Amino acid sequence: MWSVSYAQLLIIVTILIEALVCYKANYERVEQVFGQEYAEIDLRVRKYNRTTTVMNGTMYIRQPLDDNMVFSSDVFHSRLGNQQFQHYPMRLPTSGYCQFIENLHKEYKAVVEDMVNIPNPGECPVTERAIYIHDKVFPPGVLPESLAPGLWKIVITGALVTKPENILFRMMVSVRLLDDLFI
Ligand SMILES: *[C@@H]1O[C@H](CO)[C@@H](O)[C@H](O)[C@H]1NC(C)=O
Ligand SMILES: *[C@@H]1O[C@H](CO)[C@@H](O)[C@H](O)[C@H]1NC(C)=O
Repeated sequence: MWSVSYAQLLIIVTILIEALVCYKANYERVEQVFGQEYAEIDLRVRKYNRTTTVMNGTMYIRQPLDDNMVFSSDVFHSRLGNQQFQHYPMRLPTSGYCQFIENLHKEYKAVVEDMVNIPNPGECPVTERAIYIHDKVFPPGVLPESLAPGLWKIVITGALVTKPENILFRMMVSVRLLDDLFI
């Protein structure tokens, strides 16, 4: 006869639940703090239907940008989604602007692929232009599966390589991660 111990049962149930829990990520907010003379971020997050938000709008590159402008990032998490953020040890690689865009193409293709007029990988300097984002749903599968639900915020900061302490550009994007079982 074949029997399953309580411990084995617990493991099986845990595996089943982990397989079932998948996260739905929704854009929550996009905000530019400063640096409009370099790049102006005119993006809004809107409710698209009951369960999905989209990002919509235009990013204007206002003057040529190259790798002398270095972009760094910081990630914050709010478990309760109530703006009590904690710094989280994860980031995009810090690099010059052209390299930063190239890295997005390489590692986060789904994030940039349908942005109209996004600089091509290797394009440098990036000249003045308007980049259009139309009703973009946050792409599934972009975030590591290990991330906890709640509000996640990435702050992107730009400064000249020669003067890193003098911040010239800052924007933030937040994404709400919901447990799919509860929506
Ligand atoms: C909302 O829109 C998204 C994206 O088009 C779609 O995948 C989803 O099924 C829609 N949900 C509802 C409830 O209509
Ligand atoms: C996004 O912007 C376009 C053009 O600016 C507009 O037609 C569309 O309705 C917007 N989407 C939402 C969900 O508001």
